[in-house]
Amino acid sequence: MTDHILVERQSAVQIIRMNRPDKKNALTRAMYAKMSAGLAEGDADPAVRVHVFLGVPGAFSSGNDLADFLVIATGGEGGTEVWDFLMALAKVEKPMVSGVDGIAVGIGTTLNLHCDLTFATPRTIFRTPFVDLGLVPEAGSSLLAPRILGQQGAFALLGLGEAFSAERAKAAGLIYDVVEEGALEAAVLAAANQIAAKPPQALKIARDLMRGSRDDLVARIKVESEHFRERLKSDEARAALTAFMTRKKAS
Ligand code: COA
Repeated sequence: MTDHILVERQSAVQIIRMNRPDKKNALTRAMYAKMSAGLAEGDADPAVRVHVFLGVPGAFSSGNDLADFLVIATGGEGGTEVWDFLMALAKVEKPMVSGVDGIAVGIGTTLNLHCDLTFATPRTIFRTPFVDLGLVPEAGSSLLAPRILGQQGAFALLGLGEAFSAERAKAAGLIYDVVEEGALEAAVLAAANQIAAKPPQALKIARDLMRGSRDDLVARIKVESEHFRERLKSDEARAALTAFMTRKKAS
């Protein structure tokens, strides 16, 4: 089986690459588990100074695997992998940089709210269609997005499910910079290496000060998750998920 998450080291930089191109990097439970493990291992290893998230050309991530959601929506088991990953994101000790090219849906967008620097290519589209799926925002996005985008920007993203181009995302403060496709990974690695060269203790304190207490974030993720689990079993969600999973067969 292809490895859908690749974890590699380039000196002090640890790269977690989502690698399921045939499904546009839709994230399965196993993929979440491997990413959580990667973050934990990188945080525990003093040789690692920075985490990097990358996808494949044209797809950072199409979000949670909707087939997995449909399993829960129809009475199946969900597991703790998503929850564990969200906790890992909220609590990670070392800076995170991401490079986004193309599709960035759901967690493919909200993951970046946790990153310290996100680079995206001009063709990138950020979108969180939670409400359209009968669901609610996750990954602490209901707390972080209003802080970053303001109340109305957050509503456009999370409530209306509007698509944000890379330029709009940069203007809104959602990402750090826009770089051409061919330059994306070099820009991400240059930024990661710049971070890795800083005095780590001073950088850690500075980062912790900027982030503040994580208690609010953890509490919000918990409340969101409770709503999310309940919403997954709703008629609204079941209908939307079934429509996506059967759309090609029906046409
Ligand atoms: N979960 C499961 N499978 C997904 C997926 C997801 N989130 N996103 C894409 N896929 C699958 C498609 O079903 C398709 O599989 P198939 O080739 O076996 O039919 C394959 O990935 C390619 O997707 P496709 O829709 O053909 O590509 P596209 O470029 O036309 O569109 C998206 C890409 C991401 C815009 C579209 O697939 C989409 O809207 N996906 C759902 C996104 C979503 O709602 N995510 C959850 C957010 S909470």
